[in-house]
Amino acid sequence: MFQVENLSKRYGEIHAVDGISFQVRAGEVYGLLGPNGAGKTTTLSMLSGVLKPDNGRILFDDIDLHAEPVKVKQQLGVVPQETALYEDLSARENLKFWGGLYGLRGSELDQAINKTLDRVGLTARAKDAVKKYSGGMKRRLNLALGLIHEPRLVLLDEPTVGIDPQARVNILDVVRDVAKSGTTVLYTTHYLEEAESLCDRIAIMDHGRILAEGSLDELKKQAGEEETVTIEGNFEAELVRAKIEAVSSVRLLSAEQGRAVISTGGSGEGAVKLLESLFGADLPMHGISIRPPSLNSLFLNLTGRELRD
Ligand SMILES: Nc1ncnc2c1ncn2[C@@H]1O[C@H](COP(=O)(O)OP(=O)(O)OP(=O)(O)O)[C@@H](O)[C@H]1O
Ligand SMILES: [Mg+2]
Repeated sequence: MFQVENLSKRYGEIHAVDGISFQVRAGEVYGLLGPNGAGKTTTLSMLSGVLKPDNGRILFDDIDLHAEPVKVKQQLGVVPQETALYEDLSARENLKFWGGLYGLRGSELDQAINKTLDRVGLTARAKDAVKKYSGGMKRRLNLALGLIHEPRLVLLDEPTVGIDPQARVNILDVVRDVAKSGTTVLYTTHYLEEAESLCDRIAIMDHGRILAEGSLDELKKQAGEEETVTIEGNFEAELVRAKIEAVSSVRLLSAEQGRAVISTGGSGEGAVKLLESLFGADLPMHGISIRPPSLNSLFLNLTGRELRD
């Protein structure tokens, strides 16, 4: 469906995107998972043709975006991170405007608006001004604007940020429905659970690079056999660091004020030694959990940071 080859973008000294390559197959939901500043939006801006890459190529069905931008863009739906809505207009009017930009007219446009409103569950509120909408409803309308022309591929930039859990479930359901109808989806997020539950394949991105890529199962395999132990309490990072470094065969993955994550090193013996030393260490802990290898532990291994809200 589309292919990215050695794509790069710099802002001064910052390598926002640093030579990434990946392929997305037709009908797939592909996730770009990474923390703030990983380069997700910059990547999407290049894919949507808004931003010119310094290097590399983007091919849609073997057509170069740079060579034939209009042809490619007609097949794209873009849902930006910042909502781009006219607050004084209704959902219907917003959709009419965007549908018109995509070349839809007359009854074709009306049908597309009705179908899209229905898809995102806004039919009942379609005539209300957007400024009266909740955050979740605005997000749904933002999503609708990228779907009005039934694109073959939608690019979604963190469509669930800043909304409540119920609204989030709602958006994810719409995305699943879109994918089911055959549309290819590129989905960026910094929520592990979203990538896990939604995406067929996931690329873990940080500092402009793709650090790992694959299906959830493949990524979990890459995470290895190592269980992780997470401790929480009233302690300084330095204190935990010193205690853990004294225990052989385990590895401190991350330590911050009040929270640390430690790899057991994949052996039951490591886990036992770790727990013994933690309980004997006089650390003021109020929580401890042991977790099997996961996307989170892989992410920690690769970046030394946790992906949390
Ligand atoms: N217009 C710009 N000018 C200068 N630097 C920029 C610009 N846009 C992005 N950057 C930098 O490029 C890097 C990648 O930013 P980008 O917005 O692509 O990250 P992101 O993964 O989308 O992050 P977030 O999760 O916060 O949206 C960051 O270091 C950012 O500060
Ligand atoms: Mg972003």
